[in-house]
Parts: sequence; structure tokens; C-alpha cells
Amino acid sequence: MTRAKLEPARILVFDSGLGGLTVFRDIRRLRPEARYTYCADDAVFPYGELAPDVVIARVADVLAAQFAISQPHVVVIACNTASTLVLGPLRARWPDIPFVGTVPAIKPAAEASHSRMISVLATPGTVARDYTAALVRDFGSDCAVNLVGSARLAPLAEAVLRGRKVADAEIVAEISPAFVTGPQGRTDVVVLACTHYPLLMAQLRRLAPWEVNWIDPAPAIARRVDHLLTKAGFAAGGPASGLGKACFTSGAEPNAALTAALAAYGLHRVEWSLAPTSINA
Ligand code: DGL
Repeated sequence: MTRAKLEPARILVFDSGLGGLTVFRDIRRLRPEARYTYCADDAVFPYGELAPDVVIARVADVLAAQFAISQPHVVVIACNTASTLVLGPLRARWPDIPFVGTVPAIKPAAEASHSRMISVLATPGTVARDYTAALVRDFGSDCAVNLVGSARLAPLAEAVLRGRKVADAEIVAEISPAFVTGPQGRTDVVVLACTHYPLLMAQLRRLAPWEVNWIDPAPAIARRVDHLLTKAGFAAGGPASGLGKACFTSGAEPNAALTAALAAYGLHRVEWSLAPTSINA
């Protein structure tokens, strides 16, 4: 039996940018008493088209710097582009820290699809990964799986959160390839395999050419974090913690719209930065 812990759990949520907020939101809903650090590698964002070895090295650098400050009990890699590469190397380097990743939810999508036509909307990096190919093989083999890599959708989601106006046509251009009609029917499930995309949920629903089941894995990730915390002796409950810390590798101050959005998520930005090294730049 694990001894019950008296201190609140410390959770680090990491993403290349602001997409991880969609995962953070659901974790905080289940575990309001935990102490949170949200870390965005905005100095290097977006990761979507970076070479795999660059992503692996950079994520390890950012986490090493963050661990020294935030000493987390659980780390959530709230980024598909990173998780599909870094989970193995991170677990090998820090075997005592539980890492929870975010990877394309192909299994629940295949279970939910009636037409057997599913689309996976993600970054170009995520759709090209061996990890994703293995998920398709293992869980989607009896479906037509349409992998759609968008380089623009994550930056567009960030622009919206920063209060900028994004034309509907820009979003339509990115999501259209996810909607396919074939002899046996049409796409009925779209996997949101980039944590940024649920930030655009209202626009996605409004601009979709027909209604589909959008799969957002955030609630399942939150349940996994909750389970790991319970296993480690951190009981749920207790008073809600105050605002969590938002750390940006760029060190840049968020604009007014983003500051307000962060506050609505329960975060405030703290001074911190981590410049890209030459290998990462
Ligand atoms: N939020 C990230 C993901 O889930 C990707 C955004 C990016 O850095 O391109 O894949």
C-alpha cells in the first residue's frame, strides 16, 4: 500500500504552445486541489514540422529546466507531436517520474464509427510518425483511416486565443480534407489529434460540412492522471489550489486577451524563459 501523502500533488503540464490548456482544463476539473505548472515552449512553437531529433532534444531540455523549479509528481505531455516521439526517451531518463502522454485517439474513434470512415486531424509531424501508423494498424485496421496533416491549424488556434480575428475560410481550408465521401458513406468521426484543436471547437462544429463525432482525448487523459495520483497516495479532494503558474520559454509577456484567457483557465504567467540552444534553433 502506498502511504497517503499530506502535501498536494504537483502536476506539470507541457505543450509546445497553448494547446495543452485543453488537457489542463479537464485535469484541473478532476483534481482542483493539485498545484499546477503549465509550461509552453513558445520560443520554438510550432513543433508540427520540426525534425524528430530536434523535438526529442528540446522537450528534454525544457523539462530538465522545469523539473529543477517545479518538482512535479506527475508530468503530462499535452502534445501529440511530442508524445508520439518523446515518451520512451523521457521514461528512460527519468524512470521515477510518471509521464502521461497524448496520442491520437484512434481506438475510440474506430469504436464510435458507423461508416467505418474516420479522419485523424493532426500536425504534419504526428501524421508521419511510426507511432501513429502502429495505432492505425492495431486499432483502425477495419476502417478507412484518413490522416490529415495541417501545419496551420495550431497557429490559428493560438491566434484566436490571443484575440486575433481568424477568417472562417482559413479554418475551412485546413479541415476540409478531413471530410471524405466514398461509395460506402462518409467520414463520421474526426480525431482531434493535436491538443490545440479543441480550442477551436465552436468554429469546428460550425464550419464542418456535415455533423461528425469529434474525438477529444482530454477527459480520458484527465482520468489517467487522476488514477496515477490516487495510486501514488494523493487522495482527491481538499480545497482548490489558487492560480497555477504559466511558464513560457520565450519569456514574452502574454497580451491582454491571452492574460484574460489564462486567468479563465486558472493560471497566471510567471517570469521564466529558456532560449533555444543551437541544436534546437
Ligand atoms: N499541441 C501540439 C499537438 O498536440 C502541436 C502544435 C505544434 O506545436 O505544432 O500536437
